[in-house]
Amino acid sequence: MPQTRRQFLQQVGITGGAGVLYSTMGALGLTTAAQTPAFAAPTRNDLNGRGKKHIVILGAGIAGLTSAYELGKAGYKVTLLEARQRPGGRNWTVRGGTEEKDLHGNTQRARFSKGQYMNAGPGRIPQHHVTLDYCRELGVAIEPFVNQNADAYLYREGTTALSNKAVRHRTAKADVYGYVSELLAKATDQGALDSLLSPVDKEALIGFLGSFGAIGNKAAGFAYTGTDGRRGYEVEPGAGLEGGKTASPYGLSDVFASGVGNYFSFEFGWDQAMMMFQPVGGMDRIPYAFEQAIGREKFIYGAKVLGLRNTSSGVSVIYTNGSRAREIKADYAICALPPHIAATVPSNLPADIIGALQYAKPTNAGKIGIEYGRRWWELDHRIYGGITNSNLDLVNMWYPSTGFHGERGTMIGYYNTGANATAYGALSPAARFERAVAQGIKIHGDGYGKDVKAAFSVDWAGTEYSRGSWVGWPSQTDGIYAKLLEPTGNIYFAGDHLSHTIAWQHGAMVSARATVTALHSKVMSR
Ligand code: ALA
Repeated sequence: MPQTRRQFLQQVGITGGAGVLYSTMGALGLTTAAQTPAFAAPTRNDLNGRGKKHIVILGAGIAGLTSAYELGKAGYKVTLLEARQRPGGRNWTVRGGTEEKDLHGNTQRARFSKGQYMNAGPGRIPQHHVTLDYCRELGVAIEPFVNQNADAYLYREGTTALSNKAVRHRTAKADVYGYVSELLAKATDQGALDSLLSPVDKEALIGFLGSFGAIGNKAAGFAYTGTDGRRGYEVEPGAGLEGGKTASPYGLSDVFASGVGNYFSFEFGWDQAMMMFQPVGGMDRIPYAFEQAIGREKFIYGAKVLGLRNTSSGVSVIYTNGSRAREIKADYAICALPPHIAATVPSNLPADIIGALQYAKPTNAGKIGIEYGRRWWELDHRIYGGITNSNLDLVNMWYPSTGFHGERGTMIGYYNTGANATAYGALSPAARFERAVAQGIKIHGDGYGKDVKAAFSVDWAGTEYSRGSWVGWPSQTDGIYAKLLEPTGNIYFAGDHLSHTIAWQHGAMVSARATVTALHSKVMSR
C-alpha cells in the first residue's frame, strides 16, 4: 500500500530524529511550512487611513519593549504597564545605588563604585541573535564578551590527579584531545573501524588526528606526549637559549575520570560559541534605548496589573501604581508577563488558557557580582575575561570582559542554576558572599577574598515580578503551549517562553515580532 506523505514524514521523524525530518521535508519542498517567515515590520503606510488602534502592553521586559517599539514605529498608540520602576525585566544591570528587596525579605543596596556594574540577568549575546540587530538599530554600542578563554580554569573536586586544583582550559583540552586522538588513531590503524572506513578514509582520519590531538606518527605509536606547548609550560619559552619546559600530561585514566572534558561541548553550542557580545556599559543599555525610542511618556512604571479582560470592543486592564486602582481600555493587549505570573492575574481568560500559562515551569538562576579593588585575575593569573567552570555549587565564575588593566573590576563570583541557585538564594546576601568566597578560594587561592569593595547577589526565584530565571515546558508540541501562540479574543501573548530560544533576549524579541505580525494582520483584515 502506498504511504501517504504524512505517514512517510512521521516514520522518518520517529526513526531518524528531528534533523532527518527537517532535511527530508526540504527534499519534499515542505520546509517553508516549518520555518518562521522573515519578519516584515508593520509600517505607517500599512495603517494609512485606518483609525489609530491602541495596544496596552503588560510588562516592559524585552518582549514588551520589542512589541511596543515595532507597533509604535508603525503608528499604533501603545501604553506599557510595568510593575518595576525601570524597563528591561530580567535584563537588569546593577550599579552603585541599585536597591532591591527580594521575596525572602533581604534588602540589598549595591555599593559598586562608579563605572562598575553587574548584569544580573542576560550577560552575553551571540552573533546570530536579533538582539544585535536591535543594538545596531537603537545605537547601543557593543563590545566582545569573552565566553571562552584558554587560560581560564576548570576545577573538579574528586580523586584524580587533576582534581581539587585549578587546571587551565588549554591544559585540559590538550590532554583530552590528545588522548582521544591517540586512542582513535590506534583503533583505526589496528583495523577496528575497517567496516566503516575505506583505506583512504583511514589515512585521512589519522592525518586529522595528528593535528587535532598533537599525537606522534605511526612509528611513535600515535602517542600523545603533550610536548608541543599547547597545554602550557612550566618554564615559558623566552629569549636566547630558553626554549621552554613543558610538564608531562596527566594520565589518560585521570583525564577522563576527572570529567574536565565534559565541559568542552559548552562552547560548541549554537548560542554559546564565540564571538559573543555585550553592550558597552551594561546590558540595560538595550532597554533604556528602547525606552527612549518608544517614548518615555508611553510607560507607566510601578503599575501592578490587577485585572485583564476581553470586552466586546477590546480589552480592559486594571492596574494600580499607588493606592488607587485605574482602568485602561484599549483595542488589544499584549501580555508579556512571565507566564506563571500572568496565570495569577484575575482575568476572564478561559480555563484552558490559564492552564497553558500554568503549564510553564519556572526554574532558577543566581549570580553574585563582586567588585575588587585590584584586577588580580589579570595581574596574578593572566586571565583577561572568560569563564572558569567548576563542579562546585558556584558552578561558573565570569571574569569581566571590559575595563582591562583598569584599577578595579567586577567579577561574577557565581552563576548557577536550579538547585545550586536556590541553595544560594536561601542564604542571606552576606552568607551568599561568604560561601562564594570560600568556594572561590579553592580555585584562585586566598587572594580571592582580598581587596573586595562591594558585592550584590540575585536569586531570580526570589525576585518579585520575575519569580524565576526562565521557564521550561513539559512539552512544546502537545498543543498546550501552542494555545498561547494564538490570541484569546483581543489578548495576545509574547515572551521568550513562547519561542525555542527560551532564556535569551532573542527569544523574547522573535516572539514579540511574531505577535506584532499576528496583531497587525488582524488589524489590517478589518
Ligand atoms: N542564556 C542564558 C545564558 O547564556 C541562559 O546563560
